[in-house]
Amino acid sequence: MSPRDRRDFLKLCVTSTPTLFLGDRANAFEGFEARTGQKSPRTPTSIDRYVDPLPILKRLEPLRKHGRTVVYQVRMTEFKQRLHSQLPPTKVWGYEGMYPGPIIEATSKIPVEILWKNQLPQKHIFPIDTRIHGAMSPTPAVRTVPHLHGSRTKSESDGLPERWFTPGHSEIYHYPNEQQAATLWYHDHAVGITRLNVYAGLSGFYLLRDEQELSMNLPSGKYEIPLVMQDRTLDAEAQLVYAPTNEDGKMLAPGTWGPEFFGELPVVNGAIFPYLDVEPRQYRLRMLNGANSRFFNLYLNLATRPTDIPSLVTFHQIGTDGGLLANSATLKNLLLGPGERADLIVDFAGLDGKTVTLSNTASVPYPGWAMLQTMHAPLNELMQFRVSRASSSTSKPFSLSLKSPLTRLDPAIAEITRDFVLSERLDTEGRSLGVRINDKGYDDPITEFPRLGSLEKWRFVNMTDDAHPMHLHLVQFQILERQGFDFGAMVQGRLELVGVPRPPAANEAGWKDTAIVSPRDVLTILIRWDGYTGRYVHHCHMLEHEDNDLMRPFEVVAGK
Ligand code: C2O
Ligand code: CU
Repeated sequence: MSPRDRRDFLKLCVTSTPTLFLGDRANAFEGFEARTGQKSPRTPTSIDRYVDPLPILKRLEPLRKHGRTVVYQVRMTEFKQRLHSQLPPTKVWGYEGMYPGPIIEATSKIPVEILWKNQLPQKHIFPIDTRIHGAMSPTPAVRTVPHLHGSRTKSESDGLPERWFTPGHSEIYHYPNEQQAATLWYHDHAVGITRLNVYAGLSGFYLLRDEQELSMNLPSGKYEIPLVMQDRTLDAEAQLVYAPTNEDGKMLAPGTWGPEFFGELPVVNGAIFPYLDVEPRQYRLRMLNGANSRFFNLYLNLATRPTDIPSLVTFHQIGTDGGLLANSATLKNLLLGPGERADLIVDFAGLDGKTVTLSNTASVPYPGWAMLQTMHAPLNELMQFRVSRASSSTSKPFSLSLKSPLTRLDPAIAEITRDFVLSERLDTEGRSLGVRINDKGYDDPITEFPRLGSLEKWRFVNMTDDAHPMHLHLVQFQILERQGFDFGAMVQGRLELVGVPRPPAANEAGWKDTAIVSPRDVLTILIRWDGYTGRYVHHCHMLEHEDNDLMRPFEVVAGK
């Protein structure tokens, strides 16, 4: 299908879908088989939903210990992996032969050392746009640099974008783990091609534990399920296609940079439309939006037929990107931008025999314009939980009223307020040339030098039409508030806040390393510069944006 035909085809699919909760192609195909007694043809867009069990991610075994340090080896390789049982295997990149990578489990205050080895082939899976900063020739096509997202690490081990290394080379990175229990994740960060390397498969969980968390009686073992949600597009041979979309919804030629990428199929833990058999009890779900550009606005739906009115299961969020919340938040839906995590408790008790579908209402791009909704394949469902097993444990449930210690940062002692204006450059035909921060590119000289030990207020001012999940390396910050601003005044360079400031919602009132700034809105965060001096970066975690040019370096300098 040419991109044009494909667009028309998608448009057709969407316009013939009467409600948001439709699009249950699996049922349609079951009907086909029942009527005709024939197996329906399988292409990536006609596979059955919920026929494959959710992959339970493996934990990585350490290589050895030296002193207190736990040492791991992680090799990056190319291999084939089946993403759905009705499709042939897909060529991917992964860590230790797995996509997503294995779970690295660490303990607070016990250092980890990882020997990262690039054993990838010399040829990239995807064509590379050499017009992007850091990807210009003669830069080698295949190069990687792993970053532990959410960690407080020295600059040398942070995985800065330009510290990439090529096949046959390796790096030893040190992770002190001097921070509280949290859902961290590792992924590739090579400058100019992060979107391609992560899309090829280079990401995984890093679960940091501590005494406090372990003493809380949280669901653990097989009742603790990390879930990384991504989206992928496959060709007729089930091979990965990376074709980004322009702002007008048009698909661009493979290899060209585009402002967003949206895949046609949901992939959870490396499987398309998987299911998980669960017991009627509490589970802890560690959610990660590992998609390139797609936001997920998740809800748990008990309705099984597309024509049913959605029936929502309430759940609880107990932790954010950087650790446990002081109080759990009761939710019916959860918005996660790329890079964000949420630690959830879902109670399947009383739902025996029922099926709960993890569903999504986030538009693309997010929050999107109605006109654009017709341009992209809907991605309304991700996976199913089937409450089919008998309860096998009698352990007493985790108490949601448990309080965790959390110090609120005090805006009154902020030493400085720094503003970061996000604006998009367009060519004469209205095509995006990328979003920039304060009209500076990644390679422009550093303009921010925070002092170690100080507290700062950062304001992200969003002049674009998309929401952006803004991420800082080195620190966990707190959201102070969000507020509107006068767009006209801002065009003339004056930031005038309008309306009332909105404090963070209950499920965002904790440690964050990635936070969403909505279009025409200001996000204000408080940062305590703890840890190390040195060079780091901050950027939008939509990987297309990060690669061009929504990323800036900063340097933490010694205190007075
Ligand atoms: Cu998750 Cu700078 O990255
Ligand atoms: Cu962005």
